[in-house]
Amino acid sequence: MTEHVLVTGGAGYIGSHACLALLEAGAEVVVVDDLSNASRESLRRVEQLTGRPLAGFHRLDVRDRAGLDAVFSRYSIGIVLHFAGLKAVGESVADPLRYYQNNVGGAMTLLEAMRCHGVRRMVFSSSATVYGDPQSVPIAEEAPLGPTNPYGRTKWMIEQMLADVVTADPRWQVVVLRYFNPVGAHPSGRIGEDPRGTPNNLMPYIAQVAVGRLPVLQVFGGDYPTADGTGVRDFIHVMDLAEGHVRAVQCCAHLPGLTRLNLGTGRGYSVLEVVAAFEAASGVRIPYRIVERRAGDVACCWADPRRAEVLLGWRAQRGLAQMCADAWRWQKMNPEGYGASAA
Ligand code: NAD
Ligand code: UD1
Repeated sequence: MTEHVLVTGGAGYIGSHACLALLEAGAEVVVVDDLSNASRESLRRVEQLTGRPLAGFHRLDVRDRAGLDAVFSRYSIGIVLHFAGLKAVGESVADPLRYYQNNVGGAMTLLEAMRCHGVRRMVFSSSATVYGDPQSVPIAEEAPLGPTNPYGRTKWMIEQMLADVVTADPRWQVVVLRYFNPVGAHPSGRIGEDPRGTPNNLMPYIAQVAVGRLPVLQVFGGDYPTADGTGVRDFIHVMDLAEGHVRAVQCCAHLPGLTRLNLGTGRGYSVLEVVAAFEAASGVRIPYRIVERRAGDVACCWADPRRAEVLLGWRAQRGLAQMCADAWRWQKMNPEGYGASAA
């Protein structure tokens, strides 16, 4: 019987691109998603783009143990990619218990179900946010951890939980992927990031200004100790990230215990460099205003991505121009996101 890949949160932004890459790589993919922050339409489009159907879609909260048991009983799951979770930093400060419940509680229930069904391989979506305010850049995996908000602490706690699970039973094989700043979209423009409400993150905000949904970009801080005074981040194309997941799935069986890997490009771009690149890609001027710094932001954050290259044979291929061109294509073709086609 073919082993299936279970993808939690597979209808979301990164999960949908990972499902596409997995289907293209020939995997049999089962998705569990409660659609709390996603549309079923993303996966319909993934099936159209790849010409391959998912092996299954289950609208399910990962905290629903009975529902998970039914999924694990129905398919022969070989590995779980765990994307499902809440991710808005500000929201996590306002409602921390919701974040601990959903993210930490969800991971715990999922791990218990996996243990019960003898599935011991996982790829977990962590974040560079676990490093908090980095002492130096580029950031390697051994850098001290110190998340500065409840969302980041949920990722840090789950990483610790995974380490304890692996220590208790060394048969487990877990790859923790710490993403830097995922942006962009599939080059078809058919799937992409569809934030609900006003975007918190830079690239979707710029894209909505470009398409006329928002009037002006507020640049948070012009007095950071960087070349142009604005914050610098390691933006990584979501298709590079998706391919990193395919490699993690392929390599997981050969990596013992717990492996922590940065997924970034290793180079930073400032907010104003991103604005300029987006203007060049779209031909649209992006009006912006420099305002106060955003609480909790750091000046610079970029990855040392060498360990992922050594252990996965993976390295980001796409540059900032392509990230902007693909984000723009998605936004232009879908000005309201999945909007009316969402079910
Ligand atoms: P997303 O919100 O688009 O995707 C998350 C998906 O999980 C959504 O489809 C949502 O409906 C689903 N979900 C949430 N809670 C669930 C639950 N309890 N049960 C079942 N499904 C649930 O977010 P994304 O940007 O695709 O992020 C995916 C993962 O990567 C998240 O864990 C996020 O924390 C992590 N991450 C994202 C970024 C980023 O910038 N986007 C950066 C670092 C890490
Ligand atoms: C944010 C989250 C981080 C998460 C990451 C995912 C915070 C504090 N951190 O990181 O936990 O893992 O997203 O990608 O929210 N900016 C503007 N104007 C805007 C939006 C952003 O100037 O309207 C600036 C920010 O100040 C920052 C840069 O753009 O310098 C990138 O911001 P953003 O896309 O929100 O990502 P991070 O803050 O790096």
